[in-house]
Amino acid sequence: KVPQLKLADGQTMPQEGFGLYKITDQSTITSAIRYAYDAGYRLFDTAQLYKNEAEVGKALQELNLPRKELFITTKVSEPNQGFKQTISAVKESLHKLRLDYVNLLLIHWPIERAFFDTWAALEELKKQGLTRSIGVSNYQMIHLQYLATQAHEMPVINQIERHPRLNQQPLVEYDRKHNIVTQAWSPLGRGTILDNPTLQKIATHHNKSTAQIVLRWHLQSGVAFIPKSIHQLRIKQNLDIYDFKLSDDEMTTINKLNNFTRVGKEPSLVYEYNLKY
Ligand code: A2P
Repeated sequence: KVPQLKLADGQTMPQEGFGLYKITDQSTITSAIRYAYDAGYRLFDTAQLYKNEAEVGKALQELNLPRKELFITTKVSEPNQGFKQTISAVKESLHKLRLDYVNLLLIHWPIERAFFDTWAALEELKKQGLTRSIGVSNYQMIHLQYLATQAHEMPVINQIERHPRLNQQPLVEYDRKHNIVTQAWSPLGRGTILDNPTLQKIATHHNKSTAQIVLRWHLQSGVAFIPKSIHQLRIKQNLDIYDFKLSDDEMTTINKLNNFTRVGKEPSLVYEYNLKY
């Protein structure tokens, strides 16, 4: 029931996935992945920064999940940026994940150091078959424009913080125009928006939870999204959003909740880049 998105490189990706941020202990990871897989999630999103790749790898193997069905994402952390560093860090990630390849490899945060070299490493890793697709995370328009000056191929994904309080609509539209799929991290604003009265009213109207309303809003906005939960009922509930539809008015109402509030850190600012183009 989860729609598949076609990426610019020809790969397909489930629009909804499962986020593994902040889940670190082995038994919680294994049970969360089990609940998620049984509920119907196929995309699992980790990162070097999350310090759980080894636990995720162990869970995937112990649960004996069919590799071909899975869509696994990991991300290169800031200290691992640089051409050689990235190549070896990603090989280490694959070792921990017990995989021959990931489906999607992202640069976790834009930093000035090794800006182009890190991307070149991702292009190389894709050529070597160690990842199917390559993309970025937390890039603003200026970072994408800067990358375009030297990249041989452009990212197919830009994973950004996105939720009703930070809908990033101009960036989502920029990504779309450039054939980049926006993928929302912390799509529920880490749970901080779930008691919002406006969302509660819409939720009551549809007989759904506020979390389901927010995820449906992401879906109808045309972006991909990766909610996280460790609880079986919530994990299932977050996938139970394909049997109702928000009206245009409701979409507009949710779009208006934007007030530029971040739950995560701010991407590095434009002035940090010594732009010479
Ligand atoms: P928990 O893991 O205890 O279920 P995000 O994906 O935006 O980062 O949000 C994750 C946060 O929202 C987590 O704290 C998670 O808590 C909580 N959460 C996830 N799904 C739901 C839900 N359906 N209802 C209430 N809280 C949820």
